[in-house]
Amino acid sequence: MTGLAIERTDGPFGAVVRGLDLREAPDGALAEQLREAWLEHQVLVFPDQELDLEQLEAVAEAFGPIGEDPFFRPIPGQPHVVALTREADETTPLFADVWHSDWSFLPTPPAGTLLYGVDIPPVGGDTLYADQHGAYESLPPDLRERIEGLVGIHSAQRGYAKQGLYGDRDEGRSMAIVASDDALATQPHPLVRTHPETGRKALYVSLAYTIGIEGLDDDAANALVFELIAHAARPEHVHRHRWAPGTVALWDNRCLLHCATGGYEGHRRELHRLTIAERPTT
Ligand code: OGA
Ligand code: MN
Repeated sequence: MTGLAIERTDGPFGAVVRGLDLREAPDGALAEQLREAWLEHQVLVFPDQELDLEQLEAVAEAFGPIGEDPFFRPIPGQPHVVALTREADETTPLFADVWHSDWSFLPTPPAGTLLYGVDIPPVGGDTLYADQHGAYESLPPDLRERIEGLVGIHSAQRGYAKQGLYGDRDEGRSMAIVASDDALATQPHPLVRTHPETGRKALYVSLAYTIGIEGLDDDAANALVFELIAHAARPEHVHRHRWAPGTVALWDNRCLLHCATGGYEGHRRELHRLTIAERPTT
């Protein structure tokens, strides 16, 4: 392939991929090369693309089976693609503006998430990413010891239960979120996980979804979650992604936290989203 360039961003991680027209989904050796780059850089950004929904789905499929997306109603006729929307005059609480890893309340959360910029405000609406390999490796030794063997309890309930932030009281949201009692379920995951493809350890705790820690009472668990998130989201671990229409970003949920940001009142924002499941192990 001529013209392909994968360049690291200035931040602690992330790379920009140029010289590819994703209207033709990568396959074969190119798909493998991109996966290697994804595992190395954690976030891949593909600027200046022009993709319809089918083409976007084909790009996601190049990185693995498409993941399930509970609590979202997909774009009609496009069962795997969700529109993240916020209207210019919308006043609902911002979507996803707390540190999290996508769908960590599932038994096998999605390996990755792919977003495509459609309607991007002139200011604000950046997505922040935080490197959880770096966060784990830089933990103060006493804190690292304290979390050894601990298991977080993850749940979607704060957001997606009927009583949750996006539940019954959430009126006027343009995004098609479907709250349900399914969100009350809980799922354990160790606070330190091993990346299944690279073998590297990562902190795995979320302000949105880690609602407890096995063996700790609520106060102790919340205090520890806050302490860990404060460390996990320190500036040296964070990369700020600025969107443009036509930008595709693909991130690794197994070693990154992310969160949405606001600052674009009076402007519309829309991105298209798919998740990518773990590759089946054979
Ligand atoms: C997501 C998400 C952040 C954003 O799609 O999972 O967290 O900036 N999005 O929209
Ligand atoms: Mn998310």
